[in-house]
Amino acid sequence: MRSTVRKSADVASAKADLLVVAVPAPAKRLSGPAADVDAALGGLVAGAVKDGEIDGKPGSATRFHAGPALAATRVVIVGTGGGSAADWRSAGSAAAGVAGRVTTRSVALVPPAEATAAEVSAFIDGFTTASYSFDRFKGPDPARKAAAGRLTVHSPTVAGADLRRADRLAEAVGGARDLVNTPSNHLTPTMLGEYAKALADATPGLSCTVLGKGRLEKMGAGALLGVAQGSMEPPRMIVLRYRPAEVARPGEVLGIVGKAVTFDTGGISIKPSSGMEEMKMDMGGGAAALEATALIAALGLPVEVLTVIPSTENMPSGTALKPGDVVTAMNGKTIEVINTDAEGRLILADALTHAAREGATRIIDMATLTGAIVVALGEVYAGLFGSDEEWVSLIRDAGEESGDLVWPMPLHERYAPLITSPVADLSNSSNKRQAGAVYAAQFLREFTEGVPWAHVDIAGTGMVGGKGTGFGVRLVLAVAERLAQADAAAAD
Ligand code: BES
Ligand code: MN
Ligand code: ZN
Repeated sequence: MRSTVRKSADVASAKADLLVVAVPAPAKRLSGPAADVDAALGGLVAGAVKDGEIDGKPGSATRFHAGPALAATRVVIVGTGGGSAADWRSAGSAAAGVAGRVTTRSVALVPPAEATAAEVSAFIDGFTTASYSFDRFKGPDPARKAAAGRLTVHSPTVAGADLRRADRLAEAVGGARDLVNTPSNHLTPTMLGEYAKALADATPGLSCTVLGKGRLEKMGAGALLGVAQGSMEPPRMIVLRYRPAEVARPGEVLGIVGKAVTFDTGGISIKPSSGMEEMKMDMGGGAAALEATALIAALGLPVEVLTVIPSTENMPSGTALKPGDVVTAMNGKTIEVINTDAEGRLILADALTHAAREGATRIIDMATLTGAIVVALGEVYAGLFGSDEEWVSLIRDAGEESGDLVWPMPLHERYAPLITSPVADLSNSSNKRQAGAVYAAQFLREFTEGVPWAHVDIAGTGMVGGKGTGFGVRLVLAVAERLAQADAAAAD
């Protein structure tokens, strides 16, 4: 969807299938565009406010037929609550819900005169996210409503350039969702590498190198190769670089790492068959890393970025890793593979080492890593772990602002006994059923080469209701925008 801006905020002349007007909570006396719509509808809106049917709560939506005084066909009054970004996002989702019920090709938003570009952007974010559907493998269905193609914002204060970010963000989140939702036979590690190359080719300033099995062998990436050896599909390590002409913080490189297991059967430690199809989504971290990197480049942020995405299938076979096998990671540490289903931390180990050695000066990794984080935090917050307080708190703030919520979880030396092995430097799993998500994070830290690092476990937030959310794209964009401000945290 593309958003455009019209300077005229005249409600009556806004021509669209659906006209969206916002009302804050508590809804009392109508003002601005809402009052204009009320006048055009002969007091129907004020009546609904009086009845309590319209209360301005975020997520609420009340639809009217427009009548002859308005150029639009239908009107929806959406609540924007207290006016936070999250409230405006909910308003966008609610509007999309109404738009999806009837064929709606064009939508016009007339925000109150005082609405900011950030608020309107949040509305667009909510609207496009809620309008998303994954139809690639569905036949034609006349009952399916086409998603709205056009959004026109009628505002004298918001500029077209302000909405470019919102449109690009929506595109990137949609791209990540498509990748996550795509079945594993249509998205192998090889295909993901090709997709990354094509995305980089289409994005000025972004370059992409895809490392294959031969290169990985030379690098000694034995942890990634170990997971991959059970599959007919060869592994890939996708490396993206964005080098802007100007940087806000010379010498600093943002490292973004994302787990991309295109299918996780568990390997020889095989998962139960019920629900296993969801494991096509075990590449949500990689999808977010990829789309966020392209987004940062497309928006031209003055932040140097190095992104590393390890990708493989995790399959059981005659060549697969077996419990008790020992692999040697790229940094020379040996790992006893107690459970072949703890494969994410293995492939991330080599990716983190690679990111650090290739010059990342701070790293954020995102991974659908543990069922334990789903138990701890559900689908609302992702788990946030890290070795550097400043870095962790910057990411947490970026999460609050962007709507991709992250909650801090602990690391501690006293968890270290969990990752020890009697035969190798480390073990990838412990049979103590304790602190599963912490365990994984504590393990990853061993591969960060002392670079300030944070780990975001998105097993609960990356897929909801069997569908990819695109979680992590907004988060990383907000992180990069913070780093684009030269005077912020890292300077001290
Ligand atoms: N990809 C899974 C984690 C996962 C679980 C993601 C549920 C999304 C939803 C990961 O590779 C895994 O299998 N983790 C194991 C680790 C265990 C064997 C130590 C888990 O969490 O059960
Ligand atoms: Mn697994
Ligand atoms: Zn996995």
